[in-house]
Amino acid sequence: MTEPDDRPTRSALLTSTGGPYARVLGIGSYRPRRVVDNAEICTFIDSSDEWIRTRSGIRERRWASPDETVQMMSVSAARIAIERAGLDPADIDTVIVATVTHLYQTPSAAAIIASALGTKGAAFDVSAACAGFCYGLTLADSLVRTGASTYTLVIGVERLSDITSRSDRSSAFIFADGAGAAVVGPSNVPAIGPVVWGSDGEQSGLIAQSEPWDRAMAAEPPQWPVMKMDGNPVFKWAAFTMAKAAAETLARAGVSADEIEVFVPHQANMRITDAMLRALKLPESVVVGRDIEWHGNTSAASIPLAIDTLLTSGEARSGQTCLVIGFGAGLVYAGQVIVLP
Ligand SMILES: CC(C)(COP(=O)(O)OP(=O)(O)OC[C@H]1O[C@@H](n2cnc3c(N)ncnc32)[C@H](O)[C@@H]1OP(=O)(O)O)[C@@H](O)C(=O)NCCC(=O)NCCS
Repeated sequence: MTEPDDRPTRSALLTSTGGPYARVLGIGSYRPRRVVDNAEICTFIDSSDEWIRTRSGIRERRWASPDETVQMMSVSAARIAIERAGLDPADIDTVIVATVTHLYQTPSAAAIIASALGTKGAAFDVSAACAGFCYGLTLADSLVRTGASTYTLVIGVERLSDITSRSDRSSAFIFADGAGAAVVGPSNVPAIGPVVWGSDGEQSGLIAQSEPWDRAMAAEPPQWPVMKMDGNPVFKWAAFTMAKAAAETLARAGVSADEIEVFVPHQANMRITDAMLRALKLPESVVVGRDIEWHGNTSAASIPLAIDTLLTSGEARSGQTCLVIGFGAGLVYAGQVIVLP
């Protein structure tokens, strides 16, 4: 590790400082109305309800209707999170939107969503696929602790049905839509642990858009790009490498496996969740996010959606210690230990 630079500067700059710690103050979600069961999926691909359930754990997923846009779902989830945090939308001074399905290159979804909510705070998008929410959480934690922001809104939102080929047997049954939001603000006690994150661009081809927009548009006829996934190597990477990253997340937070009360990994595949549970040796009593069963893989939205399901059903409670870890296309990953709002 290199030493901090202590060369004197010409002027004594003022720097910002926030609270000593940050905390998730409220979580909200939006799930599209339309339920798509495995029987409907099997009208598009050669598969069976039994294969989909046993290989992925998915029974149903939600697909957004035309009016359930990235913006509409985000604003709905955010309003709930802000209200549960006991705040007003105008209190939010930074909006971070994690998504890979906002179909405008620019402006950001965050700027539009901030305006729809009624805040003029800083706004930007994060492209970190299924790790996007955890990336956003780390940015929010840092912004609040440095004083760059007081109340940061982190939204994970996807309309993966827009970029999924219905006839692709390896992905049509997995991807789904929804939005989850969290408000992060100052805290006098530690409530968001250090992040463990990273990337492996050498494996970027395993989950990726089929082709760039210029080539897709130049094709005759133009081809709408879709997600392509080589599921088996992704499965192995997620089940083994991500379990190690999750263990490192616990170590960096100074929390032992048996202190974890709630475990919410990215909802990629129920078998990945089970493999991580076994590798981490979490206690039998741990409450596990298994949202994938009824809501499929919603990428950046999956972790806040799963937490909200556990909190609203009463399976998990405010104040519990929760391990979260997101992982996906890039490949990228990020994990933290957080205290539930
Ligand atoms: C996609 C996934 C469920 C497929 O499961 P898998 O056990 O890896 O399946 P495989 O691709 O090895 O295929 C196994 C068999 O099932 C068949 N199969 C594949 N897709 C099928 C489908 N939709 N329905 C029925 N059979 C299918 C294959 O043809 C193969 O048959 P064979 O043994 O006769 O050759 C799994 O790889 C996965 O979940 N990967 C990770 C996905 C993920 O996490 N993505 C997001 C990361 S963010």
